[in-house]
Amino acid sequence: MDLAGKKILLGVSGSIAAYKAVVLLRSLQKAGASVRVIMTRGASDFVVPLTFEAISHHPVSIENSTNQSWNNHIELSLWADLFVIAPASANLMARMAAGMADDMVTACYLASRAPVCLAPSMDVDMWHHPATKHNIEILRSRSVQIIPVGYGALASGLTGEGRMAEPEEILEFIGRILSPEAQTLAGKKAMVTAGPTKEAIDPVRYISNASTGKMGIAIADALASRGAEVQLILGPVALKPGHPKVNIHPVTTAEEMYQAALQYHERSEISVFCAAVADFRPAEVAREKIKKAGSGLNLKLVKNPDIAFELGRKKKVHQVHIGFALESGAGEAQAREKLEAKNFDLIVLNSLQDAGAGFGTDTNKITFFLKGNKSRKFGLKSKEAVAGDIVDAIESLLKKLKKP
Ligand code: C5P
Repeated sequence: MDLAGKKILLGVSGSIAAYKAVVLLRSLQKAGASVRVIMTRGASDFVVPLTFEAISHHPVSIENSTNQSWNNHIELSLWADLFVIAPASANLMARMAAGMADDMVTACYLASRAPVCLAPSMDVDMWHHPATKHNIEILRSRSVQIIPVGYGALASGLTGEGRMAEPEEILEFIGRILSPEAQTLAGKKAMVTAGPTKEAIDPVRYISNASTGKMGIAIADALASRGAEVQLILGPVALKPGHPKVNIHPVTTAEEMYQAALQYHERSEISVFCAAVADFRPAEVAREKIKKAGSGLNLKLVKNPDIAFELGRKKKVHQVHIGFALESGAGEAQAREKLEAKNFDLIVLNSLQDAGAGFGTDTNKITFFLKGNKSRKFGLKSKEAVAGDIVDAIESLLKKLKKP
């Protein structure tokens, strides 16, 4: 990783993972970056400012209201090529989302013109709290890039999501933002389908499923963070991508999703079919709300286009197709069958038998199936970390392809 000449502002907030920020500081310096450190008051209870001062060879500011530092936040914000906050506590993210400027870290965030990324760190229940999720969505919508949390043992003794990414993962994330050679998918075009589709029965009712779009959105974000131009064809969901460069094409029905996918498929080297498309739609949409008369109701359903299948038939030698199989059983045989039938290069299987996998969860447990009877199993990870594994696999598939 070459960060020579890059100027990085490192914000440290109050979490037990603050000690890892010392390692991150050293790694950034070793990669050639100049680093200045600022801390929250809470962080200084975990690691004393002197540690960061001695290693960075610069003073470390906490308050933004003392005589020496009242305008430091402006200078530091304009100086930095990138502002990384690691660890970012739940409290810090709440203050950032609220637009507060009550210490050096929050003031620098408000004054920053550089890209901002943060590595959250907290206990599993704090991570899953709606308030934290909401704050992260707010920060994402303001182009703050969130470095995926890890899953594992936490300082509280609990096990789950919320561990700060390891310093080397943070370094890699920063490298992707700052060094063009780490934009490994620069110049590539990608198309991702995500979320459910909604098929109207009458003006108020529809057929749909519980997909939240989280997995597909995480893949779109991961592709964009590696420099790909991404078209995200997104069914009706509440979530939005975090990466500012993902182009969103909202759709409602399978037919609309198919038409949008047809439009972007031909020019895309990468197509990821992550959407939970309704297989059937009502043959006719009733113009008026269907009344509750009689003892039952027969609905005639017709087949929707199988987007992955149809586009699989058009696939050229320079294109890779990734599909998903969500199965209620173990699903290996079905996954292998779909790999062939839909002409995927890779199918990602998740089974509803595995706790933490499937719709609406923040985690996923997957197995890859590739051509030639190859497969690879992964442990339970956050959907963002799973997206990273899938995009790694896409990169190695692209390397093996023939030129058009
Ligand atoms: O056959 P099944 O629906 O299980 O296949 C799942 C895969 O096919 C997923 O990648 C999904 O996005 C894709 N698919 C599609 N259009 C459909 C149904 C599934 O693109 N109508």
